[in-house]
Amino acid sequence: MAGTGLIQFDDWADIYAQRVETMRTSAVRDLFAAASRSDIISLSGGMPDIARLPLDKVSEVAANAVKVEGVSGLQYGDTTGRLKTKQTVCMLMEDFGIHIVPEDVTITTGAQQALDLLGKIFINSGDVIITEGPTYLGALQAFSAYQPKVQTIPFDEDGMRMDLLEAKLKELGKRGAKFIYTIPTFQNPGGVTMSLERRKRLLELAHEYEILVIEDDPYGRLRFEGETVPCLRALDSEVIYLGTVSKVFAPGLRTGWVIAPHPILKKLNMVKQGTDLCGSALNQVIVEHYFDEIPWREVLASICVKYKERRDAMLAALEEYFPPEATWTHPQGGFFIWVSLPEYVNTPQLLSVALENGVTFVPGDGCFPATSGLGTNSMRIAFCYEEPEKLREALRRLSIVIEERLDLYRAFIKAGVLKG
Ligand SMILES: Cc1ncc(COP(=O)(O)O)c(C=O)c1O
Repeated sequence: MAGTGLIQFDDWADIYAQRVETMRTSAVRDLFAAASRSDIISLSGGMPDIARLPLDKVSEVAANAVKVEGVSGLQYGDTTGRLKTKQTVCMLMEDFGIHIVPEDVTITTGAQQALDLLGKIFINSGDVIITEGPTYLGALQAFSAYQPKVQTIPFDEDGMRMDLLEAKLKELGKRGAKFIYTIPTFQNPGGVTMSLERRKRLLELAHEYEILVIEDDPYGRLRFEGETVPCLRALDSEVIYLGTVSKVFAPGLRTGWVIAPHPILKKLNMVKQGTDLCGSALNQVIVEHYFDEIPWREVLASICVKYKERRDAMLAALEEYFPPEATWTHPQGGFFIWVSLPEYVNTPQLLSVALENGVTFVPGDGCFPATSGLGTNSMRIAFCYEEPEKLREALRRLSIVIEERLDLYRAFIKAGVLKG
């Protein structure tokens, strides 16, 4: 039956581990196939615009990787990553006021692997973890394998709401949660950035309640406007920091990193051995040479100009096309805008109609824990990948689909069947 395209009965349904029952596939991954159709404009993926990289130089670096580094790029390597790659990370972190040495770093297969490894070393089934709500759906996926109870804290334009976090921590008590997972800068999916004041408060609360903080920072360098806000890790060396080359160079290299206090790193390295022995040395070589030999800051700055144009186009199209009942965030960088619609609009249902109309987005419920029932009236739209005209067209198409729903519900409200 394999490969016939027919739906196959799963003979093994009763032998899977319990953890698989609570896991779900990522809406973004599922949408990947649709997104590659030429008639569809995708607002779903957080894909960097890698076509704007100096591809001739990147191929030179890749082609020379073995020539320059010898066979080390083809051999098994250190579980924690190549020394030179860690040195590259130390250099990158200096820009953020994070002063570290290679021993403070483990190289991972993207930041995504780091999320999984952190889940593996910290979460027992039933443990509480705290995240923003909504949060990065890949983090929810990674953590869900370890069956935590995820408590979500809403954000506003200044990031995670500290009043609500404090109330939650009071309720949970000291060490009542394993960790607080946050994407403080250009949050995924919100696009919002946590203010400095809130960052300081978060760290105070984390110390008071003795709870670890995991800072996930893939978008920190993608600022188009406004003042830079220091990383949590720059303010507090106990914070676990996750970085990646995915959004500043290329996700295909699958190279990320963790910076953590040594006892935590030791545990993480131990479980990493069981996961992959070591990451791809060849990819790490390419990363080292890219940051060493290519004027990557200028490359990134010019790509960010494009991202800004796209963000501006998206914000303008939202103003022009979206109904007055909709609200959305105003990111100063990153890839995403979060749109909130009236309660009665169900974005998971809306998606199939949107697809028929040639546009995809990420329904908001995927960015909340599966059983929470939250986020069904919201959506994540990404401005990173498509050109401004296409973004405009996508939002025009999407607004028609939304308007149809709203018309229906407005009629119900008028008829007194639904409350406004
Ligand atoms: C917040 C966040 N964390 C982690 C990742 C995973 O990044 P990587 O490609 O390094 O695995 C992503 C990717 O989109 C992300 O948005």
